[in-house]
Amino acid sequence: MTKALMARLDRLLANLGYGSRKDVQALIAGGKVVLDGKVLKDIGAKVAVTADLPDRMTIRGVAVDPPAPLVLLMHKPLGVVCSHKEDGERIYDLLPRRWRIRDPGLSTVGRLDKDTSGLILITDDGDYLHRVISPKRHVPKTYLATLDRPLQGGEGALFAAGELMLEGEEKPLLPAQLAVIDPHHARLTITEGRYHQVRRMFAAAGNHVVQLHRERIGGLSLPADLEAGQHVILTAAQAERVFDDA
Ligand code: URA
Repeated sequence: MTKALMARLDRLLANLGYGSRKDVQALIAGGKVVLDGKVLKDIGAKVAVTADLPDRMTIRGVAVDPPAPLVLLMHKPLGVVCSHKEDGERIYDLLPRRWRIRDPGLSTVGRLDKDTSGLILITDDGDYLHRVISPKRHVPKTYLATLDRPLQGGEGALFAAGELMLEGEEKPLLPAQLAVIDPHHARLTITEGRYHQVRRMFAAAGNHVVQLHRERIGGLSLPADLEAGQHVILTAAQAERVFDDA
């Protein structure tokens, strides 16, 4: 069994976004922090940072936020951006306000365009993030595309060939799988994450994507009952399912 990381209580709560060190020290001194049924008044108390902390600790009577490492699965709505820097409504604005000032901070695992909806992972675990997006792993991502023009029949072979060159690029795309649903709808599974890849692939086939929705990454699929803008917190075992073959 790996040893639990120990953290100073005031630093732990400040890193979870409960305020400055001074704010959280006041919170602790005010008797608002309870662990295993006992009020903690020592700001320097060492606390084991385990995934079950929210079941054991309350702040003002409410379960404490989950500590790092945190992996969220979100249903990204249309119209929000994944970047911290871009203008417009950000995906981070859909999370509890306190989570915006957590340390380590949260980032999306790869990106979806502003006009793409569906499954996105968000994490504060840099190692996990890099494992998922690593080009060596080829984690498959499945998109449901709605197309402007009817499919012609040759797109599946074109995408599967591993020879398709996107405009301005020097390396052909890896083979991708197309499953046609009807003339205007298809599922496309890709194992890379090039810029606007799905839209550019259909553009290379003479079509235009009018709607794009990501349904799946590796062994994780978007739960049917997870509404746009909502998220679920994954356990460590669930988060690892992204590496299962889909
Ligand atoms: N491909 C795209 O074109 N857009 C996305 O958001 C993801 C993949």
